[in-house]
Amino acid sequence: MPIEISSLLPTDTAAATASAVTPTTASLQGSRILGIATQVRRLVAEGREICNLTVGDFRPGEFGIPDVLAEGIVSAVRGGHTNYPPADGLPELKSAIADFYADELGLSYSPGSVCVGSGARPPIYASWRMFVSPGDRTMSCLPAWNVGYYAHLAGSRHTFLETSAETNFFPTVEQVAQALPGTRLFVLNSPLNPTGTMIDDTVLAGIAQAIVDHNRTADRPTMLLFDQVYWMLTAGSNVHRSPVSLVPEVAPYVIHVDAVSKAFAGTGLRVGWGVLPEYLQPKMKALVGHMGSWAPRPAQQATAAFLRDRGAVAAYMDDIRGAVAARLDRFFDGIMGMRERGLPVDAIRPQGAIYMSLRFELVGRGFDDNEAIRAWLLEEAGVAIVPFQAFDLQAESGWFRLSVGAVSVAEIDQALQRVEDALRRLHLVKADAGA
Ligand SMILES: Cc1ncc(COP(=O)(O)O)c(C=O)c1O
Repeated sequence: MPIEISSLLPTDTAAATASAVTPTTASLQGSRILGIATQVRRLVAEGREICNLTVGDFRPGEFGIPDVLAEGIVSAVRGGHTNYPPADGLPELKSAIADFYADELGLSYSPGSVCVGSGARPPIYASWRMFVSPGDRTMSCLPAWNVGYYAHLAGSRHTFLETSAETNFFPTVEQVAQALPGTRLFVLNSPLNPTGTMIDDTVLAGIAQAIVDHNRTADRPTMLLFDQVYWMLTAGSNVHRSPVSLVPEVAPYVIHVDAVSKAFAGTGLRVGWGVLPEYLQPKMKALVGHMGSWAPRPAQQATAAFLRDRGAVAAYMDDIRGAVAARLDRFFDGIMGMRERGLPVDAIRPQGAIYMSLRFELVGRGFDDNEAIRAWLLEEAGVAIVPFQAFDLQAESGWFRLSVGAVSVAEIDQALQRVEDALRRLHLVKADAGA
């Protein structure tokens, strides 16, 4: 008979957890987005038709990984490449990434500046550990993906810079410059999760210059964690730039983070990397090594070969950018059509990533807050979206993130119709609108 463990555990699990774990862990929240996703799965299991626009992930049936990458992984496993990789990544992957950045971003980093990890998260977490002690000041924009959790773990005094739709949810140069004194780490992400917007080159250059100017006289420098996991997924003619391309003198302070997760739809492959000043790389390597959060060797080997095959990368990027744009454009046009017909919705034209900022102007019109709108939309229209509150924005301004990685164009059309029907049932159409 195996020993039945559950009968040996405390019954008051909340109290037992609080006394067993550290205060930081006790007060650490799980991902709110994943909480909503669980609710969606339950409704689907009950047989409801739900258009799931919550997760920043891809449905493999809609967005497969590149063939060259898939085949490379299989043949690396079959070829017996299954032992530990070096803690900071295979040399061939580090040099493939350095060459890729030189060609695509115009930045000539040495392979020794690259630290590979299991996705973008380990380099992000390692950066927090490298630069931030408890009580230090840290800063990011608002809304922001997961930064609140990292600040909590690091025990930092975090400042969220308030932004608005008018500035594409990015701060102004003045806001950043004013907040720099005493700040150890500034986290910036573009294209931005959750908004699907991109930072303007002039603003990014201004921020980079402000960091250079500030660091000239600061006791300890402000480091810039530049999260560019969506940089290849830009809409239309938009071009992504690193702050280092715009202001090269900022290079000693910039940690880029990146991954195969989004651009190559490979969220489950767990290959990401930091590209940082070479003198700091050994510290990131040590942290990633001690966490054991290196990327699987077969996936690293295949990523190196894929990045070297520029023809395959270009062909894949054409496909995925087209597929993402088809979905986001459909949503944007659909929502703006509803707006023209007098319904209380709005959106920002997607500029990059797999997201669109969508607004329901319903707070104070029968709805108390974004959570009430979210629950109503799920129940009445079978459409699941994430309020900006999941990205630390407190203002009940009606903004939501919509993600298109897990839906087909046909599902979007059906979802749009259901949203319009549900809105019409609220009888809020403006009298002067056409329809
Ligand atoms: C802005 C941003 N950075 C980093 C990540 C994490 O990427 P990975 O899955 O490679 O750890 C995500 C994932 O959603 C993200 O949106």
